[in-house]
Amino acid sequence: TPPDLIRNFCIIAHIDHGKSTLADRMLQITGVVQERDMRAQYLDRMDIERERGITIKSQAVRIPWEASGTTYCLNMIDTPGHVDFTYEVSRSLAACEGAVLLVDAAQGIEAQTLANLYLAMENDLTIVPVLNKIDLPAAQPEKYAEELAGLIGCDPADVLKVSGKTGAGVEELLDEIVTKLPAPVGNADAPPRAMIFDSVYDTYRGVVTYVRVVDGQLNPRERIQMVSTKATHELLEIGVISPEPEPAKGLGVGEVGYLITGVKDVRQSRVGDTVTSARDGATSALGGYRDPKPMVYSGLYPIDGSDYPILRDALDKLKLNDAALVYEPETSAALGFGFRVGFLGMLHLEIVRERLEREFDLDLISTLPSVVYDVTLDDGRVVVVTNPSEFPEGKIASITEPVVRATILAPSEFIGSIMELCQSRRGMLRGMDYLSPERVEMRYTLPLAEIVFDFFDALKSKTRGYASLDYENDGEQVADLVKVDVLLQGDKVDAFSTIVHKDKAYSYGVMMATKLKDLIPRQQFEVPIQAAIGARVIARETIRAIRKDVLAKCYGGDISRKRKLLEKQKEGKKRMKMVGSVEVPQEAFIAALSQD
Ligand code: GTP
Repeated sequence: TPPDLIRNFCIIAHIDHGKSTLADRMLQITGVVQERDMRAQYLDRMDIERERGITIKSQAVRIPWEASGTTYCLNMIDTPGHVDFTYEVSRSLAACEGAVLLVDAAQGIEAQTLANLYLAMENDLTIVPVLNKIDLPAAQPEKYAEELAGLIGCDPADVLKVSGKTGAGVEELLDEIVTKLPAPVGNADAPPRAMIFDSVYDTYRGVVTYVRVVDGQLNPRERIQMVSTKATHELLEIGVISPEPEPAKGLGVGEVGYLITGVKDVRQSRVGDTVTSARDGATSALGGYRDPKPMVYSGLYPIDGSDYPILRDALDKLKLNDAALVYEPETSAALGFGFRVGFLGMLHLEIVRERLEREFDLDLISTLPSVVYDVTLDDGRVVVVTNPSEFPEGKIASITEPVVRATILAPSEFIGSIMELCQSRRGMLRGMDYLSPERVEMRYTLPLAEIVFDFFDALKSKTRGYASLDYENDGEQVADLVKVDVLLQGDKVDAFSTIVHKDKAYSYGVMMATKLKDLIPRQQFEVPIQAAIGARVIARETIRAIRKDVLAKCYGGDISRKRKLLEKQKEGKKRMKMVGSVEVPQEAFIAALSQD
């Protein structure tokens, strides 16, 4: 396809404003998916996405559209909306010339609407403002068209109004994409250069790499080279997705598609790298992506220690599909061999863990998540701590913690409760603007550790679900932090150590000691549980001794029932971890993770 007939666009929106539904309608209206094959959230290919009704991975699909007698080739990239996946969004944006900015006509602008709009503007994309869900009785298209027009500086009459559900206005939107977005520009005669914006591992075909061609042409059977690693491969197959993979004769300037080289080694195909031809290829890479910086670290351990190699392999494969994932081996006295894994946020952690368990059939324990602290010792050395149990012993001069710039959008009646909440999380109000008399935007600086775990839930409950939140990194600040250890019978349980603000150490200690007292079954001997800062004990509980006799419950002599109970106990044993001489059930670790 010649570049002037190509339009590359993505759909960006706040979570639940209807991107995936609109994408479905586009697939249907353009005839790419037949009526009988249609299913909701067509492009969300992972089970976990469909079950949760959220998009995690971006998806690229090619759709034909006829406007004023000419057939254009549109490449649509569906993107995730949750703040943890902003990194996915930014990669998709780099492969496009334009963005459809979708806003729910019953809700108006939300925090991620702003965040995604700013990302699109940084990437110099042409914005097509669209109000969605106009079929809803509660929709206020006129009011929100004005709000949206005010935000991006256009005429309210230029805001399109559609319904992804009924299909109203979607054809007009496709026309608008053709007329308003610029065609891709590139040098067709130059050596090929294509940007890798995603890749996945396929059990049968090896690594599948998604690219956007910027210059030249890529052809099947030719040898290609990855510019940064210099690795060369033969192109076994090249094609487009529409909506299933279809081999093509080649990909030219502006086209979006996939490459298969038969390579099984996942590290060979780095997202952000440039693909060129092995002979007389381009020497300069396209501007890559910023490497995402993990915000939260947690230890992941197989419950069955012999699964460790499977976990390592699983992480390698997942990394290919999730460039934001970082990990390195780690050992814990309580949990054995595992990995320290970095995540973009708690949802990312949950999803990665669930994917590992489902796609690779693993049973995992994850430890208390932690942000990254820089600890400066008295002798000037700086230790980067991603695992509280590695907190340095010696004399400490200062500790810094990461902070974020948070934006909260909410009805103005909630200003008081939001301020109260932010204050309790050590927040600093930076500014406040009224978007309209009844909607307010509040900007805060908050410690990442205070916001990343349960802040959003707290915010939602204080605002009856009406507030939305977005945040981005804003450097570090010095803070009065301490490490709290938890000891069982005098033995430190490394997985339970945490770093908290001094004012919250006591309540953490009491909470953990009480929780563990309920979670750890009685043993043959008395087990003291202590929480301590250094050598100073700040909380203590005791689990009293008991002789555990599972058969005591079995009156009568039903031998098969007795055998069953013994079997069950053996099964239970496998899920126990020994801490010194104390047996800790896996549930204790899982429950310790849950924040309440
Ligand atoms: P994420 O992928 O998680 O970011 O969400 P999304 O923006 O893709 O939203 P999705 O398409 O999953 O839609 C969210 C909800 O809104 C679903 O329950 C849809 O059925 C509903 N919805 C989407 N579009 C419309 C619409 O035009 N009208 C109505 N009434 N409901 C809609």
